[in-house]
Amino acid sequence: MANDEAAARWADRATGWVDNQAVFDAIFAPVTRAILDAAGLAEGQRVLDVGCGTGTLLEAADSAGAAAVGVDISPAMVAAASARVPAAAVLLGDAQDMPIAAAAPGPPFDRVVSRFGVMFFADPVAAFANLRAAAAPGASLVFACWRRHDENPMFTLGSDVLAARLDPPPPPPEAGEPGPTAFADRDRLARVLSDAGWASPDITALDVTLDHGYDGSDGVENRVAIVQSVTTGRTAYETLRPAMTPTAWDALLDDVRTEVRRHLVDGAVRIPAALWLVTTRNPG
Ligand SMILES: C[S@@+](CC[C@H](N)C(=O)[O-])C[C@H]1O[C@@H](n2cnc3c(N)ncnc32)[C@H](O)[C@@H]1O
Repeated sequence: MANDEAAARWADRATGWVDNQAVFDAIFAPVTRAILDAAGLAEGQRVLDVGCGTGTLLEAADSAGAAAVGVDISPAMVAAASARVPAAAVLLGDAQDMPIAAAAPGPPFDRVVSRFGVMFFADPVAAFANLRAAAAPGASLVFACWRRHDENPMFTLGSDVLAARLDPPPPPPEAGEPGPTAFADRDRLARVLSDAGWASPDITALDVTLDHGYDGSDGVENRVAIVQSVTTGRTAYETLRPAMTPTAWDALLDDVRTEVRRHLVDGAVRIPAALWLVTTRNPG
């Protein structure tokens, strides 16, 4: 099972992530912190960041003095991460089946980390086995992923205005299908990891607030930028915008703003996020 669909989707979506890298990094700061606390990156380690995107964890690994390697399926993400962390080797490819050790020669990895980059595999057991093949005996794997779609307004706040205009509206994700909430089911996630040969994982609920008002604003414009960057926003832009005047499109975005403003918490966009923080080890 190849990941051609994911490759095509992320080739497109990378634009929004790259353009809004600062916004994503700011709102996901508590997630980054939790991963880094659990991973304990340090000098002398070799660290692999899976689905590295624009390179947040690569930068952290490099700052910690580790040798950082990233892998991502999206050319624009690889370009952005390479520019951000010149010392890192950033591989373009499918982490599910690319020969990582051969593509980045060196000792096996001491740490494998990911922030939201491991949920898109068509064959997750094969993917996590492939990552394990590149990891040293005793190496740890630490990542964050989303719990259920209906527990996470990140997927709907503001986007629902655009979704309602799509025909047909995007269906909620099927349980376990590749995508952000593929590992919402904790038992399935534990099974996938152990079938891939990793030790029995520690899967802990991580509940954080995604503060879109991190810059002192009410966060509404940051939220609208995110809404336009993710799948529903991209789909709306591609399918609705060509048939609309610029004024009508701006009016639709104003409807998004109005909806977002209806949900301010203490004067800013603050969204609860229900995640898993996952830690396991390569038994060797
Ligand atoms: C939600 S983004 C997260 C990016 C980054 N880790 C961050 O937190 O900003 C998911 C990333 O996984 C990458 N990705 C998806 N499927 C992949 C695969 N099969 N192999 C490697 N990377 C993949 C995407 O291109 C994208 O950069």
